[in-house]
Amino acid sequence: MNNFCKNFAFFILIQAITITPLIVSSSSDPDQGHHVDNTRRSLLFKTWRVHVVNYMSNRKTLLVHCKSKDDDLGIHNLSVGVEFSWKFRPRIFGETLFWCYMAYDNLHATFEVFRDDPYIFAKCDYGDCDWIARDNGIFLKDISSNQDEIRYDWVQGQ
Ligand SMILES: *[C@@H]1O[C@H](CO)[C@@H](O)[C@H](O)[C@H]1NC(C)=O
Repeated sequence: MNNFCKNFAFFILIQAITITPLIVSSSSDPDQGHHVDNTRRSLLFKTWRVHVVNYMSNRKTLLVHCKSKDDDLGIHNLSVGVEFSWKFRPRIFGETLFWCYMAYDNLHATFEVFRDDPYIFAKCDYGDCDWIARDNGIFLKDISSNQDEIRYDWVQGQ
């Protein structure tokens, strides 16, 4: 863990201990997870979901193999239009990290799909991370604006 992660984990822990009772007792609607006031509660108690979808041309099959330190989510061969997703709760102690290997034809990519990172929290809008595999690369959707942008290129070889 780098220093940022340590500090961040410590920050979350302190917030959990000091702030959580206040938030829980003052909030009655569990679905209002998008307000700034509820951000920390969302991080700790929300169930996150990562989606991977095959949006490639010409009926190309996408091989997806995602993992964390604790879980191997298995190999999934996705037809065009098919999504693979899973849900999890972030770890309170230590970092939460999932990464995926994806491949089609003679191209592949390996990259992180979820980590304790403000960039990811914002893109995923504190709930859903939407990764889209296209012919020209792998895109991450910004859930709030519904726009997606390229994040990773395909690399030659398996
Ligand atoms: C997925 O495709 C790969 C490569 O084509 C194949 O080796 C593997 O057995 C397939 N796995 C499943 C679970 O279908």
